[in-house]
Amino acid sequence: MNLKEIVGKKAVEFVKDGMIVGLGTGSTVFYFVHAIAGKVKDGLNIEMVSTSIQTVELAKSLGLNIKELEDVDHIDLAVDGVDEIDKNFNAIKGGGAALFREKIVADIASEVIWIFDESKDVEKLGAFNLPVEILPFGYSHTIRKMTEVGLNPVLRLKDGKKLITDNHNYIVDLHLGYGFNISEVKEKLSTIVGVVEHGLFLNVCRFCIKGTENGAVIIENPNKK
Ligand code: 5RP
Repeated sequence: MNLKEIVGKKAVEFVKDGMIVGLGTGSTVFYFVHAIAGKVKDGLNIEMVSTSIQTVELAKSLGLNIKELEDVDHIDLAVDGVDEIDKNFNAIKGGGAALFREKIVADIASEVIWIFDESKDVEKLGAFNLPVEILPFGYSHTIRKMTEVGLNPVLRLKDGKKLITDNHNYIVDLHLGYGFNISEVKEKLSTIVGVVEHGLFLNVCRFCIKGTENGAVIIENPNKK
């Protein structure tokens, strides 16, 4: 079993009957959704919302019924992947361009669990470029402003064209470098008009499930008890 599969399957143990569950996005969550589908077939009774069209399609292909976010009044648990996570439980997300919906779902959820293989566990953030969702309207000016304050933005392309998110926006990846100053970057982004949301998820998760060669390791975030 690969490490993503190990943690995807482990996370299902946190899902209880009657819960409303937020499904994340990505290749690790892929295994979580498959495991959930198995449990639902065995009688697990839950409702689900999704963080992306990609995950909705995966879930539907497995026979799962996904609710619109507007049709639930709360989320008990959200399970999602990360691109990087540091020792203070700060994460970068958005490698799959789903950061905006992922952030809304994580914000609504009473509890968040990150699932990842050990390669995502880092001392400091920044080897992975920070994704930021921006509005198409005036985007070249938004990017210029980011450049002016030293954020080193690169517009993300897919198949040679601008990547379009599920919300019909663009993504820029900020090349900030290893160990960048998180609060300084957050502050700079808050001043730039056209930024929809960024991929910094700071102290959001209650539990991490890290896939290692010795199996899944559950780590509790002491600041989220
Ligand atoms: C998508 C995300 C994903 O959770 C993140 O990219 C991790 O994906 P994977 O499990 O495929 O490595 O933030 O926007």
